[in-house]
Amino acid sequence: METFISAQKMTKRAPPLQLFKAIVWLVVFTTVVITMVTLFTARLGTSRSMQVQRRAMPTYLFRQRSDFVEKDKFTSPNCTARTKLALTKTHKTGGTTLMQIFHRYAYLHNLSVVLPTVTHPGRMNLFYLHGLIPKNYLPPQSKAHGYDMLIYHTKYNQENYTKLLGKDAVFITILREPLSHLKSQFNFFNLAEKFKLTGPQPLFQFLQDPGMYDHGRTGSHGTKSPMSRDLGMSRTVLDDITNSIDTLRPGEPPNASVLATIETFIAKISKEMDLVMITDYYDESLVMLKRLMCWELRDILYFKMLSFSYETKTENIPPTLVENHRKWDIVDYHLYEHFNRTFWKRVKELGDDFRAETAHFKTVHFSVLKHCTIDNPLNKGVLVIPESRWNPSFTVTYEFCTLLKYGQLCYMSLLYDRNLRYTIRKKPNPGSKSRVVREYSPHCALCETLATDCTMCTKISQDCTLNEYITHLFLEKQLSHFDTSLSNNRRTINGQNQEEFRADG
Ligand SMILES: *[C@@H]1O[C@H](CO)[C@@H](O)[C@H](O)[C@H]1NC(C)=O
Ligand SMILES: *[C@@H]1O[C@H](CO)[C@@H](O)[C@H](O)[C@H]1NC(C)=O
Ligand SMILES: *[C@@H]1O[C@H](CO)[C@@H](O)[C@H](O)[C@H]1NC(C)=O
Ligand SMILES: *[C@@H]1O[C@H](CO)[C@@H](O)[C@H](O)[C@H]1NC(C)=O
Ligand SMILES: *[C@@H]1O[C@H](CO)[C@@H](O)[C@H](O)[C@H]1NC(C)=O
Repeated sequence: METFISAQKMTKRAPPLQLFKAIVWLVVFTTVVITMVTLFTARLGTSRSMQVQRRAMPTYLFRQRSDFVEKDKFTSPNCTARTKLALTKTHKTGGTTLMQIFHRYAYLHNLSVVLPTVTHPGRMNLFYLHGLIPKNYLPPQSKAHGYDMLIYHTKYNQENYTKLLGKDAVFITILREPLSHLKSQFNFFNLAEKFKLTGPQPLFQFLQDPGMYDHGRTGSHGTKSPMSRDLGMSRTVLDDITNSIDTLRPGEPPNASVLATIETFIAKISKEMDLVMITDYYDESLVMLKRLMCWELRDILYFKMLSFSYETKTENIPPTLVENHRKWDIVDYHLYEHFNRTFWKRVKELGDDFRAETAHFKTVHFSVLKHCTIDNPLNKGVLVIPESRWNPSFTVTYEFCTLLKYGQLCYMSLLYDRNLRYTIRKKPNPGSKSRVVREYSPHCALCETLATDCTMCTKISQDCTLNEYITHLFLEKQLSHFDTSLSNNRRTINGQNQEEFRADG
């Protein structure tokens, strides 16, 4: 009885106690938020680099600290932008985001990407599964100019790449720390289910004995040195290596001929690749890319694609299991460690200016993302990025934000659309337009009202939003009947209006 009463008293007292707790939490929370906001705005204020500017506002209002002007002056590097490149897009390494940078660059500069001939959703992997053979890709946009970029999943082969792109193409690839790579594969491809791992910690279970679950899978689901496979290591060589490693007693070093094979492979990649980017140091890698290609800072801005948070990402894996993974995935570990080492050696050689440029890029990138998303969902204003040592002043327009966020399939469709318009030799049968029965889509309805060539509108309606399509038609100058006052007011990527853009060529 006594205990009952006190329990009752407690429950009676509980609400005010909880209320008090809630108030304390609210106060703490509000303080934290206010502090964060204050710090954040102070940071933006002092960084002095970004201001969202409504169109009419003159820039000089923001140029107060004239003492920094000399230091912030942009001197154009003495080089011409390169446009021919081949990305060996390893799986699950942040390659999709990189591909989007190349998509946007190609799209804006009217470059010719090696495009798969099919338009179904699996087209992204057409070259990877069936090879880089002529019947799988469209002809280049211009026969005389040839191809500029190869950016979809392929198995790396120097000869084939050079044949397609010419001798002066830049070769790029990207690597990721192998354990973090495995975790990402596990999550993205649901390997636990594919490998029939039923325990509570499937990744740990897998690492007890990887060979028991993965019977030499290839492609995106393979866990046995998948990055090296994408980079062209043959299956038999890889199997020989892992078989030899398998026979080692704990602590015994791999035999010399195995190590020599790995070293030879690494030396080959090192000689043939112009840049090996590292996923774990993404922004540094991009600044290196910018310098290598002689591109502008705005060319390497990106909107992160296919990035997920998942439980195992932060899970600590016991050392014995990591050791098992090192044995199973031995070539990738060697590959990664080599290129991470040379990457940082290069960073060191590039010195303070490189570090400062990377920091600057991160700040600009952050403010562009903010402008294109949270800060300004309708993007009515234009963000002006002032000149710095590394970039001329540029504007982030509504169209630029849209292009930053196009999905990969949307870019593929739009590039396909453009390719068809430039390469189709046969004049379309005059009567055919009326006979084509299309599924109704707002994209086609819009296109047929405003533009002349709507061959791809049904396909595009599956891959792009209506807004993305309008931006495309606008940029492609396809909007022949478009209200001129409207189109003159819309700004292009460069912040010029349509007339200035045309005059620019
Ligand atoms: C730029 O490079 C070219 C060729 O390498 C050279 O002739 C020229 O003098 C350089 N210009 C400047 C301003 O450094
Ligand atoms: C390279 O090209 C040849 C001939 O087109 C083809 O048979 C081979 O599969 C290609 N290699 C790769 C790795 O795609
Ligand atoms: C784009 O490239 C094609 C050929 O590749 C060319 O015919 C066309 O004029 C170019 N368009 C623009 C806007 O530069
Ligand atoms: C190393 O391993 C390879 C492949 O298993 C084998 O052919 C070779 O004889 C070994 N070499 C030595 C020195 O043990
Ligand atoms: C890459 O190399 C740097 C510099 O040597 C090192 O600090 C870093 O831990 C390495 N990164 C990984 C993920 O191993």
